[in-house]
Amino acid sequence: MQPQLVALSAAGLLCSLAVATVGAVAAETVADRSAAKPGAVATLADGEHRALVLQVCGQCHPIERVVAQRRSATEWDDMIAKMVQRGAKATELEQDRIYQYLVTQYGPSAP
Ligand code: HEC
Repeated sequence: MQPQLVALSAAGLLCSLAVATVGAVAAETVADRSAAKPGAVATLADGEHRALVLQVCGQCHPIERVVAQRRSATEWDDMIAKMVQRGAKATELEQDRIYQYLVTQYGPSAP
């Protein structure tokens, strides 16, 4: 191989490495948003049990998705039961606390 060609393919390799790295970083940012990191989500209202909700309900989808809509007490109850069926890991007590938080912060008459 001629020296120029070697240089060119080296540059090409570096280039694809850079693209791969940027892709990985972007994927990580997306994962971060749904990962349970208290403080990482500014949009979730303050309140008792906020951290628990973030931890349990932020596993499979961004927490923003969870609170995109207000729901009645019954709807939250059903939703939590549905998510537990889907695999959300929470004890009865934790489910109660999540329910309390969601109804208080994201119920029909929430502030
Ligand atoms: C094991 C994974 C998993 C966990 C943990 C989880 N969910 Fe979900 N959630 C899903 C899936 C899958 C969907 C999308 C399916 C759907 O739209 O019905 C979804 C959708 C939703 C939606 C949107 C429903 C709609 O109609 O727009 C809400 C609200 C929600 N989840 C609330 C919660 C709450 C509250 C928790 C914590 C108790 C939680 N999720 C935890 C899997 C999960």
